[in-house]
Amino acid sequence: MNFDMTEEQQMIKSMVAEFAEKEIVPVAAENDLNEKFPWSIVKKMGELGIFGTVIPEEYGGGGFDNIAHAIVAEELGRVDSSVRGIYSVQVSLVALTILKWGNEEQKKKYVPRLASGEILGCFGLTEPNSGSDAVSMQATAVEDGDSYILNGNKMWITNGGVADIALIFAKTDKNAGARGITAFIVDTKTPGFSTRDIHQKLGLRSSNTAELILTDVRVPKENILGEVGKGFKVAMSALDFGRYTVAAGCVGLAQGCYDVAKKYALERVQFGKPIAGHQLIQEMFADMIVDIEAGRLLVYRVGHLKNKGVPNTREVCVAKLFCSEMVNRVAYKALQVFGGYGFSGEFPIERYYRDARINTLYEGTSQIQKLIIANKDLGISAF
Ligand code: CAA
Repeated sequence: MNFDMTEEQQMIKSMVAEFAEKEIVPVAAENDLNEKFPWSIVKKMGELGIFGTVIPEEYGGGGFDNIAHAIVAEELGRVDSSVRGIYSVQVSLVALTILKWGNEEQKKKYVPRLASGEILGCFGLTEPNSGSDAVSMQATAVEDGDSYILNGNKMWITNGGVADIALIFAKTDKNAGARGITAFIVDTKTPGFSTRDIHQKLGLRSSNTAELILTDVRVPKENILGEVGKGFKVAMSALDFGRYTVAAGCVGLAQGCYDVAKKYALERVQFGKPIAGHQLIQEMFADMIVDIEAGRLLVYRVGHLKNKGVPNTREVCVAKLFCSEMVNRVAYKALQVFGGYGFSGEFPIERYYRDARINTLYEGTSQIQKLIIANKDLGISAF
């Protein structure tokens, strides 16, 4: 085992950290307040090759490894979870999923443009009445000549209102359960495809979250991703990528919470000394340090498994479960350190605390992660 970062990983870390400080930090609070999608940041991330970090060079990326991919999510998450979420969906749920399941033509057509940020992608699995029970989706795809006609609604879709392409999962056979679902790459400009932005979220307020409405959307058969009836596997494998960068983003966000709390605790004087010198405050810092370090190790272990190309669903879920719960514990303690000041928008901890909350909910709730982990070990499905 080697716990050292490679030169390449260190280089990515400093590059993204510098970008985050210079380009994201100055506008993050304002974008959050105004629910403003960070278009200029997204454009610059594309130009700098940040979206392409883990994409192979032959598809326009930087060809870095999976740990570098986590490091990008961590560094973005440290300052702005909205931007980290945009990155996760674009790269993990969409680009890597097309790379894994797409044919050569699809990979060449979409992946370089996702890597450069020329186009944005979103991932349409969840529906108004189908969340944890993803197989119960109601969206349909009916064969019609050389196309399929898609109908249905997709809910809580990150990047949904700004995406150029959407991965849409729909039933091609209503009686075949998970094996009746097919994945499609849908151009969002196709007639019948519309979106409705969702506002006033608790957190991630500068990322776009939307409902997708598909009414008789004609999608050519060449846009099937993978095979007919294999769409559920496509979705689940996408979540193996997506949950990885959620976990990494949680480590980054927890680090961000820690960093601002540390600065404050060293400056704020009560009872005649900086509050960092009080034992009950120190206990909270020790808890935060242990939590963040444990989470980071779990994430990098998954990166190591991904680099080796071995199955890692169980380990991804362990990391996602731990890190998403962990960041809420850390955000709570970090805000506690600030006392009343933490409750105001004067310090970023207020935004960090709100942004932490989504992580135990999306890309599979903590309860779903637990069921997958237990099922994998016990060999008995709870479903
Ligand atoms: N990779 C590839 N295939 C997989 C897989 C994986 N990780 N996990 C399961 N599969 C395959 C299985 O092998 C099985 O295939 P076969 O029929 O050929 O054997 C098939 O998928 C069905 O698997 P299960 O029987 O395990 O499926 P299930 O219905 O019992 O339960 C579940 C699955 C774990 C509950 C799943 O539905 C799940 O993860 N639910 C949560 C959904 C979720 O995370 N949604 C978040 C959406 S993304 C989001 O949040 C929006 C955003 O924009 C960020």
